[in-house]
Amino acid sequence: MSAQVTGLIGWPVAHSLSPVIHQYWRERHGIAGTYELIPIDPASMERGIRSLKARGVRGFNVTVPHKERIAAFLDITDNVAEQIGAVNTVVRDGATWRGTNTDAYGFLAHLREQVPALVPVLSRVVVLGAGGAARAVVQALREAGAGSVLLLNRTRATADALAAEFGVKTGDWAERDALLADATLLVNATSLGMIGKEPLRINLGAMAPTAAVYDIVYAPLETPLLAQARQRGLIAIDGLGMLLYQAQRAFEEWHGVLPAVDAALRAHVLAALAARSPA
Ligand code: ATR
Repeated sequence: MSAQVTGLIGWPVAHSLSPVIHQYWRERHGIAGTYELIPIDPASMERGIRSLKARGVRGFNVTVPHKERIAAFLDITDNVAEQIGAVNTVVRDGATWRGTNTDAYGFLAHLREQVPALVPVLSRVVVLGAGGAARAVVQALREAGAGSVLLLNRTRATADALAAEFGVKTGDWAERDALLADATLLVNATSLGMIGKEPLRINLGAMAPTAAVYDIVYAPLETPLLAQARQRGLIAIDGLGMLLYQAQRAFEEWHGVLPAVDAALRAHVLAALAARSPA
């Protein structure tokens, strides 16, 4: 009975848009069952995972704070998850529980959709942040063959550790405006600019005129960073696409069909987002 059940584990999970996305595709593809929000307290993780496995669910997504710890409860983690150092999707292959990560795919798929010529935009990339999201972004950039990647993070030591692992460079967070000189792509992989968080203070004046700015934040959809990029005539890429594409790959893993990321889905998810945002 549970074979078609999927869901999201995390703590908390109530805010997630994933049920909206997955239910939409389930209806389109006639796949019965539900995508459940499953809060699992970090202290009860072992029990929570055991009970999910006992139900024989098809698979599940994993969010904060379980993305790193979940690997210990799985039979295998694939290369992508190993490289990123985090699992965001678990798939049941018969009796085997496999961990993968679809965040890097999500980041890159949306970038490809938004930027017609990827090669010039990938020549000089600046990434802000060095947390889990930044790891997926840097992995995706490496996979896509980015030229130079410069990592800037408030805590320099975290950036240095990530940079050593991925073979990229780091710079000083305080120097970020100047370090944008001639950057062809800027990625905000911090949570700055998100509703309820501090704003991201940055001046895009030094960026190349044909550059792109990609904010992984999607609430609000139009962050002050993207507004500034648009004002300067740069390509502005919002974070909703990454969310939709990481879900697309997870859906394919579970149900064997690649669902469409199209304008209708975006409108559907945006309506759900608007309905829950404070006026
Ligand atoms: P995630 O998994 O979503 O990436 P995270 O691992 O907590 O979340 O990382 C959050 C990122 O946002 C980090 O790069 C963090 O910088 P630090 O390593 O210095 O903590 C960055 N960040 C969060 N608040 C910040 C702030 N007020 N100013 C600058 N950077 C901030």
